Amino acid sequence: MQKNFSAHFKSNPVFDHVSAAGKELKVPVYVVGGYVRDLILKRPSKDIDFVCVGSGIALAKEVAKHLGNDAKLTVFKNFGTAAIHHKGFEYEFVGARKESYRENSRNPVVEDGTLEDDQNRRDFTINAMAISLDEESYGELLDPFNGMEDLRNMLIRTPLEPGVTFSDDPLRMLRAIRFATQLKFDIEPDTFQGIIDHVDRIKIISQERITDELNKIIMTDKPSYGFQLLFHSGLLKLIFPEMTDLQGVEKIHGKGHKDNFYHTLQVLDNICEMTNNLWLRWAAILHDIAKPATQRFHEKAGWTFHGHEDLGAKWVPNIFKKFKLPLDERMKYVQKLVRLHLRPIALVNDRVTDSAVRRMVFEAGEDVGDLMTLCKADVTSKNPERVKKYRSNFKKVEKRIREVEERDHVMNFNPPVSGEQIIEVFDIKPSKVIGDIKTEIKEAILDGRIKNDEKEAFELMIKLGQKHGLTPVEKYLSTSSDK
Ligand code: CTP
Repeated sequence: MQKNFSAHFKSNPVFDHVSAAGKELKVPVYVVGGYVRDLILKRPSKDIDFVCVGSGIALAKEVAKHLGNDAKLTVFKNFGTAAIHHKGFEYEFVGARKESYRENSRNPVVEDGTLEDDQNRRDFTINAMAISLDEESYGELLDPFNGMEDLRNMLIRTPLEPGVTFSDDPLRMLRAIRFATQLKFDIEPDTFQGIIDHVDRIKIISQERITDELNKIIMTDKPSYGFQLLFHSGLLKLIFPEMTDLQGVEKIHGKGHKDNFYHTLQVLDNICEMTNNLWLRWAAILHDIAKPATQRFHEKAGWTFHGHEDLGAKWVPNIFKKFKLPLDERMKYVQKLVRLHLRPIALVNDRVTDSAVRRMVFEAGEDVGDLMTLCKADVTSKNPERVKKYRSNFKKVEKRIREVEERDHVMNFNPPVSGEQIIEVFDIKPSKVIGDIKTEIKEAILDGRIKNDEKEAFELMIKLGQKHGLTPVEKYLSTSSDK
């Protein structure tokens, strides 16, 4: 087992600079936390935390001098910390401290402390390791809680009694689950029990920090693992009750439906194999979110969830607002995918007209490919024959989408007749009728009654104007038939 890391420190001159700065200031200096963990796990990292027994700010200032003009120093006076941005790396400098937390706040009361005090107040054994940068012990690992052993056994464990570590900073309950999911580790049983016992404390954590951790879980290879830990610990019920509502199977006359929670997790894992787009992953999480609210039992048809896609889409803005996720086009994108997620399947039937395909392409626009990805991820059948059939159906739908788009170009629909043109042709003032004519032209194109081209659209505009009691001005009257 590696115990000395001095060879690694040759990889980046910053370590020697910090070591020299520590010597000049006569303070012991260490690399600490996530960087040490990731170094041992061989996960490359560009964030390096340094701790010294003294002033972190003074150390950072000294290191910045060593690094020269390229180094950008930021001092956080209130926190007693400083950061240096240098050549794509982020270095953070703190003085070792003892912290104790107040019951109703995650802001600690901070006092200076020893390296050991500092390690004691960290979240997990694997994050509490330090490597010395002092001359006489350069590269030596300081691992008071045997984090190395936990790394080997792939375990998340708190350094102190879990209740102490979690009530000091309840965000750590989410961090435990996030690290377990990212690193594919287990949570040591007492630590997991500690989460169960303290779930209520999550209420003092700001939504932004909760969402940040949740997004990190969502961005892992297999987020279902994290969501199951969230569910079984009781945290999910508190931070995302709409999702726990998906869990469970109701039975009437012996007929059940699938458990929508586990189905959603499967869809999420499936989509993670196909995309790194966080918002497409969110669409997978939310695609069936309104199923419990629309669930009905019919004697003949069994369980139905009519309209869950529309209701789910309607919920998206509130869910985004609650999570403090962006309310811009990213939210609209998720909303659109939730609303349309059943549409491609409805197009599988050969008897479906081109018009239905055209409408879907028009509504999905450039996101039609992502919509197809969501639909593919939505296939969670365990029956290989069925999966094969679904896949070939999707191929068919994709072919029809391509054909319709090549012919009709409705994906980035630009009205072939503009409002200004209508005003000019009929010599009218801006008014509602212009919008009506444009809508009717768009509908005619989507229905396939006319082609998506200027000539046919112009002819239809003349006819529609006349239907609305308008007369084209002289020059357009004469050209309207051959335009
Ligand atoms: N830390 C802690 N409790 C927290 C947050 C952080 O004890 N609530 C400590 C841990 O020792 C952690 C270090 O501060 O390793 C740095 O925190 P952070 O940068 O948030 O996490 P990393 O461990 O570096 O991991 P990642 O970059 O993946 O978030």
